[in-house]
Amino acid sequence: MAKLDDRALHLLETRIDALKRTKKDDDQRKTYDQVFDHTTLMALYKLISDGMIETVDYPVSTGKEGNVFHATSKKGALALKIYRVNTATFRSLSRYIVGDPRFKKIGRSFREMVTVWAQKEFKNLQRMFDAGVRVPRALTVHQNCLLMQYLGDETMPAPVIREVALDDPNAAFDDVTASMKAMRTAKLVHGDLSEYNLLWWDGHPWIIDCAQAVTLEHPQSEEWFQRDVANIARYFARLGVDTDAKRIAAFVQGG
Ligand SMILES: Nc1ncnc2c1ncn2[C@@H]1O[C@H](COP(=O)(O)OP(=O)(O)O)[C@@H](O)[C@H]1O
Ligand SMILES: [Mg+2]
Repeated sequence: MAKLDDRALHLLETRIDALKRTKKDDDQRKTYDQVFDHTTLMALYKLISDGMIETVDYPVSTGKEGNVFHATSKKGALALKIYRVNTATFRSLSRYIVGDPRFKKIGRSFREMVTVWAQKEFKNLQRMFDAGVRVPRALTVHQNCLLMQYLGDETMPAPVIREVALDDPNAAFDDVTASMKAMRTAKLVHGDLSEYNLLWWDGHPWIIDCAQAVTLEHPQSEEWFQRDVANIARYFARLGVDTDAKRIAAFVQGG
């Protein structure tokens, strides 16, 4: 590992301590102790000493499998997703990795698994981006830390689509299905697509949370594809868009 810059290291520790202090209740503190374990801190040091980020600023979201933070680089804001290492995560991850030929030789420890999981999201994001899917641009991944384009501005992170009153649901729908079609050409299935994993930013829907996405070779890819399609059909039909799952599937799979 690269030699650590003492100043960066100290700065980071101070920041993380401050983050921990702003979270007063015990549950939150426990969460932070879990998130910023030794390996994670070392991974963050590496990202700092490599010049990828300068500071970790504040949490954008604290979920069960990971936490997303606003971070700052020389060029501006970035989203830092830190995957959590625990038994529950490990269990829920394995079914997405088994069956994906890209991850044949994965190790067995929790930590290795979470590292693979972070790499998997990184690779999926890159492959989707290259195919024209509207996803945040992935910058780098190290251990359980993934850096990507930050959606939002200094006043707020991008809202989840379900929290937004859409002016034009039909346009948003067309945008999402265009992304789904591009994802299909990249031979990937998202696997957890719904109004919970679509952010609204810059007048467009952005697909996020791509760690579980699998290639078409995965034995359950078809089942998960149909589930994604059904979620999108249900959500947009409720907003008055004239659509159904069959038509979306035909459009996405059509040549
Ligand atoms: N690139 C990003 N820019 C801004 N906010 C983000 C970004 N990625 C994720 N988020 C926020 O973090 C939340 C959790 O991210 P997500 O990738 O869905 O992880 P998970 O659902 O596994 O916890 C999102 O709902 C969103 O609010
Ligand atoms: Mg999510």
